[in-house]
Amino acid sequence: MNLSDISPNVYPTTILKECKTGLCLFGAGFYGANDAIHMHNANMKKITVIDFDAKKIQVMKEMYPAKDVFLVSDVTEWVPNTASAGVLTWDIVSVDAPTNMFEWVRDNFDTIATLANKYLVVTMYSDLAHGVADFCDNLDVELVDRMNRSQNGLIELLVFSCLR
Ligand SMILES: C[S@@+](CC[C@H](N)C(=O)[O-])C[C@H]1O[C@@H](n2cnc3c(N)ncnc32)[C@H](O)[C@@H]1O
Repeated sequence: MNLSDISPNVYPTTILKECKTGLCLFGAGFYGANDAIHMHNANMKKITVIDFDAKKIQVMKEMYPAKDVFLVSDVTEWVPNTASAGVLTWDIVSVDAPTNMFEWVRDNFDTIATLANKYLVVTMYSDLAHGVADFCDNLDVELVDRMNRSQNGLIELLVFSCLR
């Protein structure tokens, strides 16, 4: 398995021109086809991938350049710990959770958003996305784009710009 075996999925690639660092939460399922490969192809300076699948994280470590960081961790613990430490942020944060974690993402959006300097890209059920105003409550983020992620139209990519 190497990078040329990955077929990149739909992604808002134009915004990557403005980003040097990227964080992919839930980043290993398809070896980065949904997000990390786009950041790699955009020549971003540093990509950080978090996933609790140790085998896939190890495969990605061998595929991607050594400058990139691959961590085996539970996102539900890593995100609050990293946000409360208040030290690390990334220009773009991709949140590509499995469907059974969409509600966790929605409920923890405020905390996740503190990790992003410029953009947040969130995979979400379209019907949960309809209440998108709820995502933005009391936050310095603005929904700037929506892209269809699934053939049946049930899942979208929500693209948020950080205003701070
Ligand atoms: C839709 S796939 C992500 C695909 C990935 N973004 C890519 O481009 O290859 C969902 C991933 O979430 C991971 N996952 C699910 N729950 C998790 C959790 N609580 N913490 C960390 N990873 C989790 C799974 O191991 C799986 O790799």
